[in-house]
Amino acid sequence: MSVPVYTEDLYEEDAILEPYPHYERLRALGPVVWLEAHQVYALPRYAEVRAVLGDDERFRTEDGVSLNQHYNDLIRGSTFASDGERHRFLRGLVAHDLTPRALRPLSADVQAVAARVVERAVAAGEFDAVNGLARDMVMEIVPDFLGIPADGREHLIDWAAANFNCHGPLNGRAEEALAVSGRMAAYAARMVDARTARPGGLAHSVLRAMDDGRVDRDQAVSLMIDYLVPSLDTTVTGLAAAIWLFARHPEQWDLVRADPALVGAAFNEAVRLETPVRQFGRRAVTGVEIAGVPIPAGSQVLVMFASANRDERKWERPTEFDVRRNPVDHVGFGYGAHGCAGQGLARLEAHAVLTELAGRVRRFEVSGERRTVNNLMRAFDTLPTRVTV
Ligand code: HEM
Repeated sequence: MSVPVYTEDLYEEDAILEPYPHYERLRALGPVVWLEAHQVYALPRYAEVRAVLGDDERFRTEDGVSLNQHYNDLIRGSTFASDGERHRFLRGLVAHDLTPRALRPLSADVQAVAARVVERAVAAGEFDAVNGLARDMVMEIVPDFLGIPADGREHLIDWAAANFNCHGPLNGRAEEALAVSGRMAAYAARMVDARTARPGGLAHSVLRAMDDGRVDRDQAVSLMIDYLVPSLDTTVTGLAAAIWLFARHPEQWDLVRADPALVGAAFNEAVRLETPVRQFGRRAVTGVEIAGVPIPAGSQVLVMFASANRDERKWERPTEFDVRRNPVDHVGFGYGAHGCAGQGLARLEAHAVLTELAGRVRRFEVSGERRTVNNLMRAFDTLPTRVTV
């Protein structure tokens, strides 16, 4: 079977800002499409995305999760970029800190912080939903939860954005970001070498594993980075996307206000429709077929979460925001062995904020928003928001 070819650059600025028309064309072309500009096989439809994420034996993250080989080399052996037994081991070292059971005692605190953050923003009447709400929330919860030292926290969001940029192909954005990503690595190294990680947090579990001899020093640093990078702006982005969607669909906000039990479903729907992490790669270890298309051994495939979440073969009315849909099987948090380890924490924070907003805000109006140009994330730099209470 011949493979359709797509020649446009998905990482050029306009395509990053408006990706959905590209995704629609890719899905129409076929289940597997060769991206000439990036030399990878794109998987734009839901069925193949789920199948590949579920087949971590044949589709590996080591040497394959990033489109940029230089970055793959840097992160080789981390949780994101390891497979099989080693990956299970690394994930097992800290994942227990993130299970619903482990998070339960945190929930009252998270709700109290959300009440405070929302109260402050709403009292002002106008705020930036990114920098004046979502980031405040996440920065009050996550660094303490992880046990990140107070010193240097202010850089974490920018450093994480740089790491996200590194996941794209080696374009100008990734080249600039590679230099910055080293700063987060140095910060993580200090958390280990100077033991600046605070007691009681997830980072401390990493230090304990090092003290017990279960991981060596370099693995401990790499584990710190694994949780520093994805734990902050992903959740900020998901929350901001939900507010943006509610501003555009006030009737959906009315449904949530009338029945706050819909908050969980609504957040799932926001992550489906405005998927924050657009895509990651995988490397095929052997020759394999995807939907009848032969994929040669060693090829890279691009697993397109954000496109799969709008696949018309999977979802009815895929571009509609419908808080009653509750798309529990969306792939916005990935799926399978590498599925998001922190999604319980992300949901806890987002649900708390949306519940507080539902109790206080009748309408959101947004104007003058600016999207972030990032190789991995669909995010906002700023989302000026006015509320009616
Ligand atoms: C709305 C918020 C979030 C979104 C949309 C998101 C999205 C994702 C996605 C799509 C993956 C899959 C990567 C892959 O398949 O290669 C992932 C993995 C991961 N996420 Fe999240 N994430 C979020 C929040 C968080 C938080 C709060 C944490 C940490 C506390 C976190 C930690 C991780 C880790 C460690 C992995 C790697 C898991 C592995 O490779 O085994 N994420 N996330």
